[in-house]
Amino acid sequence: MTAKLNVNIDHVATVREARKTIEPSVIEAARVCLGAGADGITVHLRGDRRHIQDADVEQLRSEIDCYLNVELAATDEMIAIATRVRPDAVSLVAENPNEITTEGGLDVVNNFETVKNAVERLKAAGISVSIFIDPVIDQITAAARAGADQIELCTAEYAEITLPRSPTHEGGVAAASADGVVLSPATELSRLHAAAAHAKSIGLIVAAGHGLTTTNVAALARMPEIEEFNIGHHIISRAVFVGLEKAVREMIVAIS
Ligand code: PXP
Repeated sequence: MTAKLNVNIDHVATVREARKTIEPSVIEAARVCLGAGADGITVHLRGDRRHIQDADVEQLRSEIDCYLNVELAATDEMIAIATRVRPDAVSLVAENPNEITTEGGLDVVNNFETVKNAVERLKAAGISVSIFIDPVIDQITAAARAGADQIELCTAEYAEITLPRSPTHEGGVAAASADGVVLSPATELSRLHAAAAHAKSIGLIVAAGHGLTTTNVAALARMPEIEEFNIGHHIISRAVFVGLEKAVREMIVAIS
């Protein structure tokens, strides 16, 4: 079965917020993505509101009939917004104020009670809960113990080494992580696959995302355990040149 695609439209709001004006419209972007065949819409309501605003989330929920996934940090402020707006799903993410983008998965092991409490409050409001985590077995087990319905595997490291600028790309020299482990697309893929298989075996739905492109998504799309992708930056970047509808269609083709 082909995995679902939720298009992350944060960067439509990034362009709007560059001028603090009314265009481009996040609502119109959601309509175009869904019209092109996307299965859902994902937005990240960050604490600093650098792109998506509270009103965007409210409008998406009230004006667009679609599967809505909202990424947010497990803070009281964000849980209160989510339980009021009631998206279909919330993805709990780690958030650092000065990061350019989400830097990695949530450390569920070391923040277990906070995460578990957030999951309980969201699920009590009828919201499905996903946790964005690194492909690490202990983190996945902790996510299940915290009551998550789903995990989203962070594909950032895999994505980084598949970029054309990466030394491992097209016969380059393999890179090494901080702890000296040699990184290559193949080792990252096998790490992601082992993580996906473990998650599925303990009853979690498996999603993946971060840094995925029409080029690097195919290897992940071949993993039957992965049921959903959340992809934003590449689609919006491509849309600058070919339009949003075509950019979404290209990604659907790459996944299928
Ligand atoms: N999933 C999560 C949890 C994210 O934080 C992001 C980035 O906002 C994405 C997926 C999408 O990543 P990208 O924009 O690189 O496709």
